[in-house]
Amino acid sequence: IGKSLLTGRQVVVTAGPTREKIDGVRFISNYSSGKMGFALACAAARRGAEVVLVSGPVALPTPDRVERIDVESAEEMEEAVTRFHQSCDLFIGAAAVADYRPETFRAGKIKKNNETMDIRLVRNPDILAGFAAQKTPGQLAVGFALETEGNEAYALEKLQAKQLDMIAFNTYDGKSSGFEVDTNQITLFTADGTRTELPVMEKKEAAKRMLDALEKMLEKK
Ligand code: PMT
Repeated sequence: IGKSLLTGRQVVVTAGPTREKIDGVRFISNYSSGKMGFALACAAARRGAEVVLVSGPVALPTPDRVERIDVESAEEMEEAVTRFHQSCDLFIGAAAVADYRPETFRAGKIKKNNETMDIRLVRNPDILAGFAAQKTPGQLAVGFALETEGNEAYALEKLQAKQLDMIAFNTYDGKSSGFEVDTNQITLFTADGTRTELPVMEKKEAAKRMLDALEKMLEKK
C-alpha cells in the first residue's frame, strides 16, 4: 500500500445500478456493471484509505481491504450512505441510481389482465446531493454525469445544482465508454473552474487519475 494524502481517510463510494421493485419478481434498473465504482474503491484502498463501498446488485468480487455494503434500491443505498455522512472525508457517487421508483409495490406477481398497464413512478432521493448539502468544509463530494447527448453543459449544471467539488462528465458510446465496458472516457470539472479532459482508458486507470486530482484538492483543504 502506497502512502498518500488518502491514507487513513475515509472514502465512501457508491457503485452499480439500483433496482426498483415493481412486484415480487420484476424491477426497473439500468446497465451499470459497477466496474467504475469498484475501480475507484480498489484504487483508494491501495492508497491506504479506509474504503466503504456501497454497491447495487453487480457481479464483481470485493476489492481487498474494502468494506462492502450490498443494497438493492436507491432508498436502501441512501440509508447505507447516510451512516457515513459525518465520518467520511470523501464521497464519490459512481452509482447509476434510478431517478424514479414505482409508487406502489405489489407482493407476488402482477397478473396480465389488460392490453396496457400503467406504472406510476415517483422520484427517488438524491443520495449525492443529500451528502453534499450537509457536508462540512473539510469533506469532498464528487459525482459522475453520464450524458448520452455528449453535452458537458449538463454535467456542469449538476456540479452546481448538487454543490459538488468535482464531477466526472462521462461519455457513452456503447463501445469504449460508459456502462459495462472496461474502458471509459471522462472529463473532470471542479467547483473552482478547472476542466481536465482524459482520453479513453481502462476504468482502473481513470480511477487513479481521478484520485490524483482529488488528492490535489485535499492538499488545499
Ligand atoms: O458501472 P459501470 O458499468 O462501470 O458504468 C459506470 C457509470 C457509467 C455508471 C458511471 O461512470 C457513471 O457515470 N455514473 C453516474 C451515472 C449517471 O448518469 O448519473 P446521474 O447523472 O443520474 O447522476 C449524477 C450523480 O448523482 C451521480 O454521481 C449519481 O451517482 C448521483 N445520484 C443520482 C441520482 C440519485 N437519486 N442519487 C445520486 O446519488
